[in-house]
Amino acid sequence: MITVAIDGPAGVGKSTTSKALAKHFGFAYLDTGAMYRACAWWCLERGIDLDAEHPDEQLITETVGAFFTEGHFDIGLNPDNPTVLADGKDITMLIRDHEVSSHVSVVSSIIPVRNVLIAAQRAYIAGESSKDSYSEGAGIVAEGRDITTVVAPKADVRVLLTAREEIRAARRAGQSATGVGGDDVEARDKADSKVTSFLSAAEGVTTVDNSDMDFDQTLAALVSLVEDAV
Ligand code: C5P
Repeated sequence: MITVAIDGPAGVGKSTTSKALAKHFGFAYLDTGAMYRACAWWCLERGIDLDAEHPDEQLITETVGAFFTEGHFDIGLNPDNPTVLADGKDITMLIRDHEVSSHVSVVSSIIPVRNVLIAAQRAYIAGESSKDSYSEGAGIVAEGRDITTVVAPKADVRVLLTAREEIRAARRAGQSATGVGGDDVEARDKADSKVTSFLSAAEGVTTVDNSDMDFDQTLAALVSLVEDAV
């Protein structure tokens, strides 16, 4: 089982490229950002105040813990259909809403919450916790902010996918023009980088800077890194 870990900030095409990479090799795909988003959505649904000056970290941690341990959460590992479910309800699109995007960092910055998610992510990567047949495949591509460093530091391939700030800003502007995203991604990157380190590569992690690459070139660079490792 090959594990490919991909981290990076918003606006580098991480999800699109990671999905395409997984499809190329017939691997499973784990979107760890979707897991944090689902937690924020679940907390908001339960009326937890994520705007408070001091959000109730204990309540959020308990709520997220129950979300996972009581089996409310599920995520598809098929890169063609990475559906996110909460009590069987499809929340894949709902977790991309502005409301969730603008509150997710509040939830993801709570260390005990991260510990719950890191354990869940490791179980998915190990093929232990999914009803999805993809979990039994030849490998998995897991993407996020701390996969190369914390979740799977021993992954076979570890990549930091990044791009120059002005390029990311231009891509983000393009995304918001098409109605995707819609939150202040720069502020989110700033908040996220206080708890996860995805702006520079850790030791042993290969940086792929796609500032001057198109999608096909980025994918080809990642494919060749995986081919070198297998
Ligand atoms: O990748 P995406 O933008 O969907 O991630 C949403 C949020 O989830 C990030 O802004 C960050 O707060 C959190 N996240 C994280 N660690 C990860 C993946 C995502 O903290 N491994």
